[in-house]
Amino acid sequence: MVISEKMAKALSEQVNAELYSAYLYLSMSAYAEDAGLNGIANWLYVQSQEEMAHSIHMYQYILDRGAIPALAAIDAPDTDFSGIDDIFKRVLAHEEIVTARINAIATLAMQENDHAGYQFIMWYVNEQVEEESDAGDIVSRVELIGEDKGKLLNLDTELGARVFVNPFPGDKKLNGGAGAGL
Ligand code: FEO
Repeated sequence: MVISEKMAKALSEQVNAELYSAYLYLSMSAYAEDAGLNGIANWLYVQSQEEMAHSIHMYQYILDRGAIPALAAIDAPDTDFSGIDDIFKRVLAHEEIVTARINAIATLAMQENDHAGYQFIMWYVNEQVEEESDAGDIVSRVELIGEDKGKLLNLDTELGARVFVNPFPGDKKLNGGAGAGL
């Protein structure tokens, strides 16, 4: 069944929002790398890759449901970061905004009686629990670290171990086709 216009619009706007998220985390990654914190830069870069994967996953879903994703301009990301604590507070605040957007799409899917759409967006509802939890944990760690440079370097080493894992190994674009290896 073809997706409703309202659902196609909401999901297209979310494709854009995911690309903005990717852009924001890329901007944060650049700030961290410039500050010499390459592990934190890596964590943020992997976060950016995940957001790209989310956007392509949604883009493909809209196509699979018989609509064309409406691609629009992506806002410029913030660049006025004042430190690593500021970065992670903004990651958490941003993910809370994303959660509200995803929940609104889930509500719309219910209103539209779009069971497949509801099932699709529920993956993101669950993903947001992890996203907020991970960001919240790092905010707490950074607060505990305070001005202790040694502990900051330990966190940097730890976050440097994060590797990108395609969350959608079955996705036709994210697994071997265009967009693979994001
Ligand atoms: Fe695509 Fe960070 O949620």
